[in-house]
Amino acid sequence: MKFHIMTLFPEMVEQGLRTSIIGRAEQKGLLSIQAVNIRDYAFNKHQSVDDYPYGGGAGMLMQAEPVYQCYKAVCQETKEGLEGKKPRLVYLSPQGRTFNQNIAEEFAQEEELILLCGHYEGIDERVLEEIVTDYVSIGDYVLTGGELAAMVMVDAIARLVPGVLHNDVSAEFESFQDHLLEYPQYSRPEIWHDKQVPPILLSGHHANIEKWRREQSIIRTARNRPDLLEKAELTEKEQKFLEE
Ligand code: ADE
Repeated sequence: MKFHIMTLFPEMVEQGLRTSIIGRAEQKGLLSIQAVNIRDYAFNKHQSVDDYPYGGGAGMLMQAEPVYQCYKAVCQETKEGLEGKKPRLVYLSPQGRTFNQNIAEEFAQEEELILLCGHYEGIDERVLEEIVTDYVSIGDYVLTGGELAAMVMVDAIARLVPGVLHNDVSAEFESFQDHLLEYPQYSRPEIWHDKQVPPILLSGHHANIEKWRREQSIIRTARNRPDLLEKAELTEKEQKFLEE
């Protein structure tokens, strides 16, 4: 899968993503992450890409033309752009729909994705109307720019690409698939700071371990994210267990 990230801070995005699992996946050829500097498409000698908003108001806006020229250059790098089609382009903004695991799965089906990071007070609406296909927010708070949001999206999507994680099963069986949070996990040593690993995990009894883990997931979800429980499919027994 190929990610093209349009940004004023390409180093931030590339350095942030080219480490750890995502970096290794890129080296293995499973992913490609290309950050493109919007400033390279500035059309004045100061290379500025921002200007005052019409109608007044605080701050500056990113101008339409540099963003558009950058987009046209990126399109030449995408299969759909080369075929004259409109590639999928996500604008990271608090105005978008809130990112979640379902949206990550939806985007993971794409071969190529363009992400546009805004700065200052936003981007001239006219270019957004022409190029954006999806508006995505990573949560109800305002960041100084879209880069961190784009990195969050790339990370969540990239780990769903087959081969990126060590075992594909781990992406399938984790939090949010069943609307439950993950159960607690333990590794060696058996006793640490006087705390003992729950004995059931040492029993070797797989069915009991699975049952315990599911109960723990349900308890955690009820405590930390009761909103998720409404969607979780609990058996009657589990429902009773929760009410106790
Ligand atoms: N840019 C600024 N804040 C943002 C947010 N919450 N999500 C996505 N992009 C943003």
